Amino acid sequence: MVTASEFSLSATAKDVRKIRCEALVLGVIQGTDGPVLLDSGLSEKSTGALGSTLVSLGVSGKADEVTRLPGLSGAEADVIVLTGLGSKETATDEETLRRAAGAAIRNLMGVESVVIAIPAPTVAAVAAIAEGAALGAYVYTENRHSTAASLKAPVSRVTVHSPVAAEPAVSAALRRAEILGKAVNATRTLVNRPPSHLYPETFASAARELARSLPVKVTVFDEKKLEKDGYGGLMGVGKGSSRPPRLVKVEYSPSKPAKKLALVGKGITFDSGGLSLKPPAGMETMKCDMAGAAVVLNALLAIAELGLPIKVTAWLCIAENMPSGTAQRPSDVMTTYGGRTVEVLNTDAEGRLVMADGIAAASEERPDIVLDVATLTGAQMVALGKRTSAVMGDKIVRDAVATAADRAGELFWAMPIPEELRSSLNSQVADIANVGEKMGGMMTAAAFLREFVGEFDGHAIPWGHLDIAGPAFNEAAPHGYTPKEGTGVAVRTLVAYAEDLVSNGR
Ligand code: BES
Ligand code: MN
Ligand code: ZN
Repeated sequence: MVTASEFSLSATAKDVRKIRCEALVLGVIQGTDGPVLLDSGLSEKSTGALGSTLVSLGVSGKADEVTRLPGLSGAEADVIVLTGLGSKETATDEETLRRAAGAAIRNLMGVESVVIAIPAPTVAAVAAIAEGAALGAYVYTENRHSTAASLKAPVSRVTVHSPVAAEPAVSAALRRAEILGKAVNATRTLVNRPPSHLYPETFASAARELARSLPVKVTVFDEKKLEKDGYGGLMGVGKGSSRPPRLVKVEYSPSKPAKKLALVGKGITFDSGGLSLKPPAGMETMKCDMAGAAVVLNALLAIAELGLPIKVTAWLCIAENMPSGTAQRPSDVMTTYGGRTVEVLNTDAEGRLVMADGIAAASEERPDIVLDVATLTGAQMVALGKRTSAVMGDKIVRDAVATAADRAGELFWAMPIPEELRSSLNSQVADIANVGEKMGGMMTAAAFLREFVGEFDGHAIPWGHLDIAGPAFNEAAPHGYTPKEGTGVAVRTLVAYAEDLVSNGR
């Protein structure tokens, strides 16, 4: 079961000097003449000595630098925590605040309650600090049975100190931060859960469980239903596994919705490559290949909890890609949902097969927009590295997603789908082949998916495609509010996109 860890946010304008807490977080920037301790409301008498010894303490103020110190006289905190905000020019950016708060909270595992006194003069700054804190308060421990002493729990209570704490907009911002944090952290847990535990059937039940307390409807299509209704992509990919595929449809239908949004997510619970087997090293992280499905599920749940007036339907395309005597073979031809045939030249290009089914099924309901999210290609990382995701598709949707991502604090970069790539997918024996031009393979994959986006009234449904192959899973050290392994990237972008749809209709 994915249980949302207990986490609560509040804000206060109380005199910092009088706040009793376990840990008090202060900000440090990299000034032109060295590190500068930012004003926190503590008196000059209590922080003066600290401020002038930062260099000797080894504190530079750079981003991701977190230092714990004993309490100060004139403050009621057991521990003082310094978090770096980097250079002065960017120190007040919302994303800087998220990361600095996140890094501090992430480093305070084992501490229960924390007060953050980084300067937060506006509601937007309070929101950013709160979001960063919620995202930093995460650890995945489901299968670790070590003693309590060695496993420290994440921070469970955070108070943001700000002069605007009493403004009505602050409580809405804190609630939104809590909801976003819960959605991102639930996504991380699904991604982190090993494929021994998370496979199509258990993923579908986890989706039901997470949705239980919300006004959303969950329908699970099992392998019999998928076979009967012609979901050849999911069935073809799932054929090699002893654990059959699932399609999970999650619906949030508020009354009088402004728009209808369809979300489609890649849910490969383990990608071995199938008969086009991956080398061992390439398989190690392939439990993350269901991140797209976890993202669309949790984004929908967050949108529902926020009560946004748009109808959202999420399609989770879930299968395990395994090699076996029943697995699909390179050169097999299968029929996707809706009737189009695909020649499977490489069984490791499985994501686009299950997504073809999902995108076609989503299109049938005539949504205003289809967005799909997938850890689709290794080429995504070749193009943009491990921290920047790609967004492709129709220009208006693509650019609106990039704008939403920017506001959410996620790195998404608009990429094209060059026309010439389409013909590289031509097949001699089927309507289309599942692999084509390797150079720019991320865009080739997008050209494949585009073929399955439906149309009505003679117009293609506006569509956006998010390839999060690299950013979904952090193999490197934690940074900012980002932990190791599952990152939950794209949840916040989808929620921000939905909010923008409500406010400006795009
Ligand atoms: N799941 C992988 C893509 C991936 C690779 C995600 C690394 C995250 C990290 C996908 O199914 C895949 O194997 N794609 C192939 C496509 C190729 C056969 C055309 C790839 O990128 O090599
Ligand atoms: Mn693959
Ligand atoms: Zn895959």
